[in-house]
Amino acid sequence: MKKLVSLIVAFLLSCSFIATSEEALFTGYESNFKKGFDGWYARSTGSASLETNGTYLKITGRDSSWNSPGRDFNLMPGTKYRFSFNVKQNDADQAELMVSVAHSKNGIESYENLAKASCKRGVWTTISGEYTPNAYDNYILYVETVAHPDISFLIKDISVMPANTVYDVSLVSLKELYAPYFDLGCALNNSQVYNANLMNFVSGQFNIITHENEFKPDSCIDLPESRKLADQDETAVALKFTQAKPILDYCQKNGIKLHGHVLVWHSQTPDSFFRKGYDPNGEYVDRDTMLKRMENYIRQVFEYTSANYPGVIVSWDVVNEAVADAGGVLRKSNWTNVIGDDFVNRAFEYARKYAPEETKLYYNDYNTPLEPKLTGICNLLDSLIAEGNIDGYGFQAHYSATSPAPSAVRNAMQRIADKGLLLRVSEMDIGITALNDVQLKIQADRYKELFEIFLEFAPQMEAVQLWGVTDDRSWRKDEYPLLFDEKARPKKAFDAVVEAAKSK
Ligand code: XIL
Repeated sequence: MKKLVSLIVAFLLSCSFIATSEEALFTGYESNFKKGFDGWYARSTGSASLETNGTYLKITGRDSSWNSPGRDFNLMPGTKYRFSFNVKQNDADQAELMVSVAHSKNGIESYENLAKASCKRGVWTTISGEYTPNAYDNYILYVETVAHPDISFLIKDISVMPANTVYDVSLVSLKELYAPYFDLGCALNNSQVYNANLMNFVSGQFNIITHENEFKPDSCIDLPESRKLADQDETAVALKFTQAKPILDYCQKNGIKLHGHVLVWHSQTPDSFFRKGYDPNGEYVDRDTMLKRMENYIRQVFEYTSANYPGVIVSWDVVNEAVADAGGVLRKSNWTNVIGDDFVNRAFEYARKYAPEETKLYYNDYNTPLEPKLTGICNLLDSLIAEGNIDGYGFQAHYSATSPAPSAVRNAMQRIADKGLLLRVSEMDIGITALNDVQLKIQADRYKELFEIFLEFAPQMEAVQLWGVTDDRSWRKDEYPLLFDEKARPKKAFDAVVEAAKSK
């Protein structure tokens, strides 16, 4: 099996070498096979082979479901592509065909299945979809079967095109407009940071970035390594920063600030982190062990970032979402169960102990304007302020165009501002119910009203950060909540945010 895999890898690598040297920059691909094989070859270690009649390609002699027509594509990481393949088979009543990608990094090959369709005997069927590649050394798109390892099939009318986003870098720059007041930021994920065109646009608009997911505990805790350490010391925890690194590298290289998200949270944190031996079936550890694990986690994050990215991370969400929506008390979680209600205070104590002096430490939460949560948040903040380890409060601001009322947002901001804390709007997006002019206008009006409120608090407001850039990549993409549409065109909401700064 190993030999087979290495044979395939060697074969694929040699093919991709030829294609890469031919194609410098991939701008799109369409083929109807009028000019022959057009770079396609049979992926097989057996007898599969390709033929063409000038309209379609046919693969015969297959003996494994991965045996396929494949072609090297010099795709650009982070760019969204739309692809479409017409396929037909005559050998089974029904067979599932699938477009997949094989990619390799440092000689290690991996695969993703991109789209599939059920094909009736003799009927041309379209398989289409979208693909935004992460960074690899090469990419092979191919058509395989899900089962049916030995049927023959045909492919034709192939198109792999960039989704045609034109990033308008001549747009007025939000970070420049808001420079007198506060930083303007956005959340990004790794596949976006590899997209040079997008990042050129992003760095024109924003001056602070947050990882959408890659700096959360479930990205950083190395469970297999932690298990090994736990044999000797249950308080030790092993971390890895491979996920967090691309965005950190980008910020460091381009002089962009980073807001760290997040050290301590009940969500996106493995349950095994709280258990003996990091074993999913182990008992929960005791309070003292967990406090030490938490301290070791926080210490190592700061050691790593201070050593490798000095000055890049200006602030951190130390604890996220600790207050329950109801009752004004802390949310029950592994943190409260294992450590107790002072876990938030201890997290801030450790963060202060290990953070560089200038790093601002935030508590971050959602639904801030809603009572009794607001009172619960204020009580927690008071206890943190009393211990002297907190600098600021982050309003997530995942809102809709009708709620919460701007007056409630202002009231919550005032209550927290009165405590003397720094403020930030950490994760803003405003959802709408449909993509039409009326809704887009309501959304824009709400963005404007809220930014006007943020501007009232400018002396304490460190940053306003959008939770994403374009609607299509938002975690709430069905609600079109951001300032730019799926083609990075500014929406009415963008104009409204510009307007709010100009009329200040
Ligand atoms: C979200 C991400 O956007 C999603 O991609 C992920 O699946 C879940 O988490 N509050 C937070 C953020 O503090 O970390 C969350 O981000 C959104 C709500």
